[in-house]
Amino acid sequence: MIFLTGNKSNFYSPSNKDGYVRPNISYNISDQWKVVLGVNLPWGEDDLTEFGQMKKIKIVMSDFDIVFKTRSEYKPMGFDRKGHWEGVYAAKTPAEVSWYQINPAVSLELIASSGISHTGRIIDVGGGASVLVDKLLGQGFQDLTVLDVSSKALDYAKERLGSRAEAVKWLQADVTEFEFPGKYELWHDRAVFHFLTDPRDRKRYVEVMTKAVKPGGHVIIAAFALEGPSKCSGLDVERYNSDKFKKELGNSFHLIKSIDEIHATPWKAEQKFTYCYFQTSVLRESNRP
Ligand SMILES: C[S@@+](CC[C@H](N)C(=O)[O-])C[C@H]1O[C@@H](n2cnc3c(N)ncnc32)[C@H](O)[C@@H]1O
Repeated sequence: MIFLTGNKSNFYSPSNKDGYVRPNISYNISDQWKVVLGVNLPWGEDDLTEFGQMKKIKIVMSDFDIVFKTRSEYKPMGFDRKGHWEGVYAAKTPAEVSWYQINPAVSLELIASSGISHTGRIIDVGGGASVLVDKLLGQGFQDLTVLDVSSKALDYAKERLGSRAEAVKWLQADVTEFEFPGKYELWHDRAVFHFLTDPRDRKRYVEVMTKAVKPGGHVIIAAFALEGPSKCSGLDVERYNSDKFKKELGNSFHLIKSIDEIHATPWKAEQKFTYCYFQTSVLRESNRP
């Protein structure tokens, strides 16, 4: 049997003026397996989301995808994270998204204050098409990795860097599900953790990060501040101050510094961010003799 769904959980709309729908067709192959074919349909006029400035419904053909899932895994109301973000980057250029920065000044300031050497391993988690990697290459950092769930976002960054992209490792993955191959001295995340509204996803993120950062390593994490927007890109976000970050990250991460920033979107709306810089314990419980 084939059926078409456009149910509520596939519909993100912070106001009446914009939204995002992901209808899908699914086919039961057997009792165990179901195939789902989905497509993103973003539209809107509202400045609050990434779909602001779009005047018409736009079907993003490149976003058709087929998802195979066992029946036990399949959640009809589930959120397709990769599909969502591929749709965002197909609908807008990097300079049109609300989080675009010409110069990621606060991130660069905190990275400099960590004292990491130019040979230290740095990862930008959910780096998307951010120019942070360009700036760090320009400063002489030699061991850079950018991870993002959207391959389209990474393609934008690679294209912009041209041959300089070869000096960077690019990973397309969902951070909450990724097994990092090595350890990093510095973990940077601007505006990714705040999308994890399910406590189970946050727990997984912290577990992944704890394994991936060296003892004595550095974590710079930025999110919308408590007074910041409650949505981004049509999705709900969890907002933070330094105390809330400390609780989420747990005792192995020691807060060194926190900075608030008022970010101006490309359409001049103001969004308050909180950046926190943590250092991990030199000797973790698990490493103690
Ligand atoms: C608001 S943007 C911020 C991009 C970049 N950090 C910056 O500051 O310009 C969020 C980014 O995180 C990526 N993302 C969202 N959830 C993710 C996840 N679970 N794993 C990896 N990347 C994710 C999105 O594709 C998007 O590029």
